[in-house]
Amino acid sequence: MKTVAVIGTQWGDEGKGKIVDMLAADADVVVRYQGGNNAAHTLVVDGKKFVLRLVPAGALHPGKACVIGNGLVVNPIALLEEISDLKRSGHLADDALFKISYDAHMVMPYHIAIDRAREQRLGKRAIGTTGFGIGPTYEDKMARVGLRFEDLLDFKFFSEKLRRNVAEKNAYLKAILKAKPVKADEILDAMKKARRRLMPYLCDTGAYVSDAIDAGRKVLFEGAHGTMLDIDHGTYPYVTSSNCVASAVFGGTGIGPGNLDAVLGISKGYTTRVGAGPFPSEFTGYLADSLREEGDEFGSATGRPRRIGWFDAVLARYVARVNGMWALALTKLDVLTGIDPLKIVVGYQIKGKHYDRIPPSHRMLINAKPIFEEMPGWHESPASARSLAELPAKVRNYVDRIAELVGVPIAMIGVGKEREATIVVRNPFAD
Ligand code: IMP
Repeated sequence: MKTVAVIGTQWGDEGKGKIVDMLAADADVVVRYQGGNNAAHTLVVDGKKFVLRLVPAGALHPGKACVIGNGLVVNPIALLEEISDLKRSGHLADDALFKISYDAHMVMPYHIAIDRAREQRLGKRAIGTTGFGIGPTYEDKMARVGLRFEDLLDFKFFSEKLRRNVAEKNAYLKAILKAKPVKADEILDAMKKARRRLMPYLCDTGAYVSDAIDAGRKVLFEGAHGTMLDIDHGTYPYVTSSNCVASAVFGGTGIGPGNLDAVLGISKGYTTRVGAGPFPSEFTGYLADSLREEGDEFGSATGRPRRIGWFDAVLARYVARVNGMWALALTKLDVLTGIDPLKIVVGYQIKGKHYDRIPPSHRMLINAKPIFEEMPGWHESPASARSLAELPAKVRNYVDRIAELVGVPIAMIGVGKEREATIVVRNPFAD
């Protein structure tokens, strides 16, 4: 297959970074299509940890084109910092291979101020956003007042538009949110400098990606967050503000559905969530704390401890459906070593009624009591396994049972942090 989308099947942090980085080795072009720097894709290469927030993971492989599609909301200052960091470590050497869509929206300081002030005012009802201004930027996109990279072509036009927005947002910040206003002159100064560095990267990325597909090149679409954080299909309102499902590839890049060959879903062998919202398989206590430590389950974007839960097959089946998933990659199975028995959610009890599918209203998940199936855990770490045959039998049983419950085959199995610590059962680019 030539075009593959990688999507998160849980609430983000599924270990997509590592799988995308691995698949990027076989791709020619790697494209981000939604979200912003609320994403944090962690990769470990030669023992060194990289956290990519906006730049596609292809950046860690020389000679790969990296594209930021129109569907993203990009903090231009954060992007330039990320580019500088990557260049300092010898990556992203060829500027001609890094492309930013003219149509992607920019996160401005007033978006960040609004995001944070709103969360503070919400108090106990807060969503637990990353505080990076993502929601307010998507709001402006839909309200047709957003600033896009194309606006930088004419800085006078950009300045006028920005001043208009700042006047309106400051009125809102002061009167409604009781927060500090932002200064238009400071933003314009910073953007004037940023503009010079950003302009060479601007590109009609829709045409660029289409041309690559037409030329038979391999294209990897790198999803951010997870399906349960999708603005339409997730646990609204405890979601992010973009579509995280596979169909977002089309709106977020400018290619059509006929151009996508496969959707690979990524899931941990257990579940985590950061921020508030329903999480039926959640558990707390000593076991959750030790799994959090063992799996390093602290937000890469914000450092917050992640909530911990068992693998939820009901949600995974639903996610397979909304994404038209070809296969599943299961990550971090080494982290489950020593937990015996393991539990898998196979249904819910909601107000006395049994559900073996996700309930029709996501709000009903708040009251969902999980029904578990228990599986024997393993005590021998699978970390050194590099093939299915080397995988301890109990790990294999667990993986097989998940495939059966979700109804899709397993394409990859992650057993450690390093690039090499992945058993590839089926590589979509080789199929
Ligand atoms: P926002 O995307 O910053 O608006 O945050 C909305 C919700 O999505 C919060 O619960 C965040 O913690 C969550 N979220 C956003 N991006 C990610 C991610 O990449 N991984 C995990 N959670 C995320």
